[in-house]
Amino acid sequence: MKFMPAITFSAIFFSAIASAGAAPDPHLEKAIQDGSQLYSHQTFAGNGRTCETCHVNGGVGPGKTPDGKSIPSLANAATIFPRFNPKAGKVLTLEDQIRGCVNGGLQGTPPAYGSDVLSNLVSYVTSLSQGKPIAMGGKPE
Ligand code: HEC
Repeated sequence: MKFMPAITFSAIFFSAIASAGAAPDPHLEKAIQDGSQLYSHQTFAGNGRTCETCHVNGGVGPGKTPDGKSIPSLANAATIFPRFNPKAGKVLTLEDQIRGCVNGGLQGTPPAYGSDVLSNLVSYVTSLSQGKPIAMGGKPE
């Protein structure tokens, strides 16, 4: 039961993609679905957390860190990257951010650039922003 929300939400995203008129490519749908599974279950050999630990409800609503700090949703994340990150002192892509969360939030081994695992996570997170206008450097919802 614990992981039901992400599965339910991913079903909503697939229909969102279909209704936005994008061709329902089965490879892309599989990447989104595999990414959703990783999002909910994969700990990347870290501290036992998953993306879902902090970015709850599949990332569509506001999140919360284990120490109770409120964090924004991922609902428009794919529209606002690339973005300058003052802490990093450079422009980060969505891939950089996701790898950063694996490294920091999960204390795990980040998936390699170019790997299927990273592509699948990017596909899932990007599916949350389907239909929203690009707003590079913008604020998270
Ligand atoms: C321990 C809590 C924690 C975990 C676990 C975590 N994150 Fe994050 N994440 C954060 C925090 C805090 C921020 C906002 C601050 C920052 O940029 O680091 C963030 C920001 C993000 C953003 C940028 C959101 C935006 O619009 O600015 C994305 C995308 C993201 N996380 C994806 C992921 C993914 C994918 C995973 C799983 C691999 C994950 N996170 C795991 C805490 C976490």
